[in-house]
Amino acid sequence: MLMRHAAGKRHPGCLPEPTMNTYGNLSIPHPFPYQGSKRSIAKYILPHFPSDVECLIEPFCGAGAISIAACAYGLAKSVVLNDLNKPLMELWKDILERPNQLVDKYEKLWLEQQTDQKEFFLKIRDQFNKTHQPHHLLYLLARIVKGAVRYSSDGTFNQSSDNRRSGMRPDTMRNNILSVSQLLAHKTTINSVDFVEVANKANARDLVYMDPPYQGTSFTRDHRYFNGLTYEAFAEALLNMNDRCISYIISYDGVTGNKTHGKALPESLSLEHLYIHAGRSSQATLLGCSDETIESLYLSPALVERLKIWKPKVIYSEIEKQQELVFA
Ligand SMILES: C[S@@+](CC[C@H](N)C(=O)[O-])C[C@H]1O[C@@H](n2cnc3c(N)ncnc32)[C@H](O)[C@@H]1O
Repeated sequence: MLMRHAAGKRHPGCLPEPTMNTYGNLSIPHPFPYQGSKRSIAKYILPHFPSDVECLIEPFCGAGAISIAACAYGLAKSVVLNDLNKPLMELWKDILERPNQLVDKYEKLWLEQQTDQKEFFLKIRDQFNKTHQPHHLLYLLARIVKGAVRYSSDGTFNQSSDNRRSGMRPDTMRNNILSVSQLLAHKTTINSVDFVEVANKANARDLVYMDPPYQGTSFTRDHRYFNGLTYEAFAEALLNMNDRCISYIISYDGVTGNKTHGKALPESLSLEHLYIHAGRSSQATLLGCSDETIESLYLSPALVERLKIWKPKVIYSEIEKQQELVFA
C-alpha cells in the first residue's frame, strides 16, 4: 500500500490520498540474498520512474533490486551500479561479464561443502578475507543468516553461517544469475566509490535511486554494512543535487509500530514524502521486532516536475490490485 504525505511529516497517521498504480506482482530475479534488498517493494517504486530515463544510477546498489526490476520493465536505457563494498562490486563484474564461470565455481563450492558445512563455511570465509574472490563472496552470501553482511571494524567479513540451510541450490543460483546478467550486461557500468562521486555525475535526463544504509545500523557504531555515511554528508549531497535539478528517489527510514527510525531529511530540501505500507519487512526483523514496517520514499522536486510531463509507464493492474492500495 502506498500513502502520500507532505514532505517533512513524520508519521503516517492520517488518511492517504487515493490510489496509485503499481506494477502488480513483479517477478524479478535476484543475484544473491542481501539484507535490505528492495526486491519485495520494487512494485511501489517503479511507478515513480518517468518514461524518459536515460540512465538509472544506483549509488548504494547492494543487490541492485531496483535496477534489475527497472531493466525487466524497460524503464532505463543504461544503468550505473555503485557500492562502497569493493568485493561486492567485483562480484557484480563477474555476474555481468562471466556469469557461467562464476556459477560453475559456486556449484563446486556448494558440492564440496556437503561433508561438514559449518567447517567448510569458516574455511571459505578465511580464504575470502585473504583474497576477496567473487565466488567466495557469493558462497558466503548464500550461506549467511538472512543475507546480512557483517564486517568487523578492520574490514574482516565476520558473519556466521546459517547452519539450518545449505544455501541456494546451484541450479536456482544459475537461473537467477544468468537472468540478471542477461538483463543488465552491455548496458551497465560498475563503480565502487563513495556515493557522492557517482551522484555528482548525474544529469537532468538520468534518475538516481538511493537506498542508503538505515540510520539504525550504519549511522551508528554498528558494522552491519561495509561502511557508512553521515547524515550531514547525505543531506549536503541532496542539496547539491537539488541545485543541479537532478531527479532522484530515496528509500530512507521507516516506521515500525510507533517507532520512527532515523532523523527526518531536512524540510528545506522540499522532497515529496510517500509511505510504503509493505508488511513486515526484513528491516523489522533486523531491528528485532514483530511490528509492521512502513518504509519511506522521497521524491526530489525535479522528479515531481518531470513526472507531470513524462508520465510514468505504468502497467495498470486490475481493479482488485488497485483496491489493495487503499489504506486499511
Ligand atoms: C540498504 S543497502 C542497499 C540495498 C539495495 N537497495 C538492494 O536492493 O539490495 C545499502 C548499501 O549501501 C552501501 N554503502 C554504505 N555506505 C556507502 C557509501 N558511502 N557510498 C556508497 N555505498 C555505500 C552498503 O555497502 C550497502 O550495500
